[in-house]
Amino acid sequence: MFGENKVEINTTKLYYGFPVILVGYKDDKFKYNATTTSSSYTLGNTITICLRSDSCSAKYIKKYREFSVNLPCDNLMTEIEICGFFSNHNKLQQADLPYTIGKYTDTPLIDECFLSLECVVNKIVEDSGYTHIIGEIKRRLVDNKLLSEDGTLLGDKVRTVHFVGDSDKRVYRFLKEETASLGDFVEDGTSSCS
Ligand SMILES: Cc1cc2nc3c(=O)[nH]c(=O)nc-3n(C[C@H](O)[C@H](O)[C@H](O)COP(=O)(O)O)c2cc1C
Repeated sequence: MFGENKVEINTTKLYYGFPVILVGYKDDKFKYNATTTSSSYTLGNTITICLRSDSCSAKYIKKYREFSVNLPCDNLMTEIEICGFFSNHNKLQQADLPYTIGKYTDTPLIDECFLSLECVVNKIVEDSGYTHIIGEIKRRLVDNKLLSEDGTLLGDKVRTVHFVGDSDKRVYRFLKEETASLGDFVEDGTSSCS
């Protein structure tokens, strides 16, 4: 497939496929707000997100030390771009995104997103103009259509929007309806993936 003939790429950035999320937070000017980012990962109860240090979202998350992470599907592309293009606006209102306030955090959980996480900040690392926010997940909410009768996540139904590209051009990519199970590709292996 790919990989036989690799050449060095001249770019200042390379996004190799990150899910787009809407980060919700408390805001002094508009009470609650949301910003689009593609920089996040979770391991167990730890979650890390990254925002430009000069963004309003970074300023308010540093102040209130809590945030929500909301996962949109491809039916919310306009909302993703409104929350990603209009710094310092009242973006939840501009994108007409209804929300519910969290149980453990004073943050907006976006109703139309299929998954929302309530998170509190544990540590902040500033580096090269970016604010890396390491938090703890306090609550996970998932649309019940994505859960089995036993309450487990139906991974093959999740439809995240992904962000891919380089400094020349960035695009969205959408998940196709195909999954494989962890461990399908090795025999007798023991996984340490958490
Ligand atoms: C698809 C997409 C992905 C983005 N990813 C990031 C990101 O990873 N980190 C970041 O700081 N900004 C990212 N942005 C840009 C911010 O959303 C944008 O700067 C926003 O206007 C900041 O708003 P605020 O200053 O009100 O917080 C992204 C925007 C889009 C549309």
